[in-house]
Amino acid sequence: MATWSAPGKVFLFGEHAVVYGKPGVAMAIRPRVAVTVRRVKNPAPVRSPYIDECFRSTGVQGSVYIRSQLPSSSGLGSSAAVTTATLAAISDEFGLGFTKDEIAERAFAIEKKVQNGRASPTDTYVTTFGGIVLITKGSKRRLPPQSLHLVIGNTLVPHSTAKMVEHVAQMHQKHPAIVNPIMDSIGAVTTQAIKCMNKPQQLGHCMDVNNALLEALGVGHPALSKLVLTARAAGAFGAKVTGAGGGGCMVALCPKHAKNWVAGAMDATGAKSIITTIDTTGIRKEKDG
Ligand code: MEV
Repeated sequence: MATWSAPGKVFLFGEHAVVYGKPGVAMAIRPRVAVTVRRVKNPAPVRSPYIDECFRSTGVQGSVYIRSQLPSSSGLGSSAAVTTATLAAISDEFGLGFTKDEIAERAFAIEKKVQNGRASPTDTYVTTFGGIVLITKGSKRRLPPQSLHLVIGNTLVPHSTAKMVEHVAQMHQKHPAIVNPIMDSIGAVTTQAIKCMNKPQQLGHCMDVNNALLEALGVGHPALSKLVLTARAAGAFGAKVTGAGGGGCMVALCPKHAKNWVAGAMDATGAKSIITTIDTTGIRKEKDG
């Protein structure tokens, strides 16, 4: 029996713009998914296509038990976390010796297959390695870790990443003269944010500007706007949509003393808040049981 866990992720800056070659910054966050794999001859069928594909692609058979603190389908990278933790547990249980790089690559290939060709390499990379990751054209690099106090607000409004990416693509096709400068501006905000990662007030301001640009791309939602405004009014340094938008989650950067207050204010609107901070470990082995 082998148990491995993997963290969730938030986009701090640059979602959607990364699809157009601009830089983005994502961070691994504390809520984790833990997966136990046990070698058995005739395992019960699994209901997750991601886990099915982990076993199919490695050619082994086993039973799986999942414990998750991460809400699924909310843009916090839960499918990537389940996939990387499962691959790590399979590798451990069956002695396959996968490196972290191999796990990130295999998990991306699995996500791509399950999601009909569209997946984010960011999610699988960030959950595997942990920390803060700068995504630039075709490459990823870890930035120095920062202890940012974040409150995530889950609107509980269902959304589809594929649909939101498609919505932006259509807008880009119809109005390139409008959308291109928005993408350039998001890229500029991300570049500015990287320079002030340890200055929370300035970083919060960058988040506010990034949020306005995401709204201009049409990936906002009234429930997200409500949470963003609530977080700012409750004392956050800044707040923005995180991930694909159109529902799902937003993220607020808070002074340490204000995070409970911000979370309470967000919960009072009917959302589900998560107080969190950076995870610097990525996938890790857990005690079995
Ligand atoms: C979704 O979490 C982030 C997007 O930028 C899509 C992607 O990067 O693949 C919207």
